[in-house]
Amino acid sequence: MKKLPLLGDLTPAQFLRDYWHKKPLLIRQAIPGMKPVVGFDALAKMASENFVESRLITNLDGQWQMQHGPLAELPPRTQAAWTMLVQGVNLVDASADALLRQFRFIPDARLDDLMISFATDGGGVGPHFDSYDVFLLQAQGKRRWRISAQKDLSLVEGMPLKILQNFQADEEYLLEPGDMLYLPPHYAHDGVAEGDCMTYSIGFRSPSYQELGEAFLQFMADSIDLPGRYADPALELSNKPAEIPRHMLATIAEELNKVRFDEEDVTIFLGEYLSEPKHNVYFTGPAKPLTMGRFIDSMAKRGVALSLKTQMLYRGKHVFINGESFAVGRADKAVLEPLANQRVLEGAALAGASDDVVEALYTWYQDGWLELG
Ligand code: SIN
Ligand code: CO
Repeated sequence: MKKLPLLGDLTPAQFLRDYWHKKPLLIRQAIPGMKPVVGFDALAKMASENFVESRLITNLDGQWQMQHGPLAELPPRTQAAWTMLVQGVNLVDASADALLRQFRFIPDARLDDLMISFATDGGGVGPHFDSYDVFLLQAQGKRRWRISAQKDLSLVEGMPLKILQNFQADEEYLLEPGDMLYLPPHYAHDGVAEGDCMTYSIGFRSPSYQELGEAFLQFMADSIDLPGRYADPALELSNKPAEIPRHMLATIAEELNKVRFDEEDVTIFLGEYLSEPKHNVYFTGPAKPLTMGRFIDSMAKRGVALSLKTQMLYRGKHVFINGESFAVGRADKAVLEPLANQRVLEGAALAGASDDVVEALYTWYQDGWLELG
């Protein structure tokens, strides 16, 4: 793979080997000539919508306050030290999506979203650490980042947001538009705006094993098959009626031990889980959908593109889209795999699609999961 200016002229492989999960990397002019993908007004509008996740953070005399969106009103821009955070901007803005996809040298299964913060002079979210890797890209104005490899990650109690108790910076950088700072998980940092500024966080997801385990058991509940019912034809008389009979316990333990799962179950679970839209994501199909026949004609000419909100993944013969999964044959896979990887398909690439695939594409079009190119 070639060297990327985005990674300070490292190849993605070098970045992964030397920095990813290991140590911070400051990249001056990762995106030369960087211009914000959304302006302040558009961002404030997004923050006022209930389908966009947002927060307003202020610090008045050392007292942190956090308000969850939708944010109907913001403090005046002349007021110092407030921050508005808008999550998932890539889901509603095509340029933000294009920016996020520059980071696809990390798999989609790990890429989370693009969060945009706007802060007035002195604004920030305080010294903290995140549980995830993050790229902090300066989009507009300046922000001073102080970072620390400290192991003491104890937090101030009773705060509405995570604030480190003993933050001791060991490095400091002033980021200007186009500059970017990569931080591994649990790396302490504090970014303070110098004048109005906008910072983009390219965030990653790493679900906890507990969260995965709970979701997996729910998934398994739908697929286990344990025929039969407990019976005790040889029931023995007991003079301790409250005690659970040993035979009952042993028999049921043996039956429950028949619950098995293999890698295929985990594959299907994980694909459905990772492609499931977030709770506040809604799809809207076309107001006047084409008939199937016209859709097929248009598709042949214009091709198709996945909607910004669609997450499409695959593994082996399993294809996952927005929380649904299905197994496909070799020919169908040859159409759907490039669609998942490129997120667009030209009309010509769809020429050999089977009826099953065409029908699926049409349903996705009707549901707003996919659009004509
Ligand atoms: C910010 O953009 O203000 C906060 C981003 C972060 O520290 O993770
Ligand atoms: Co952070």
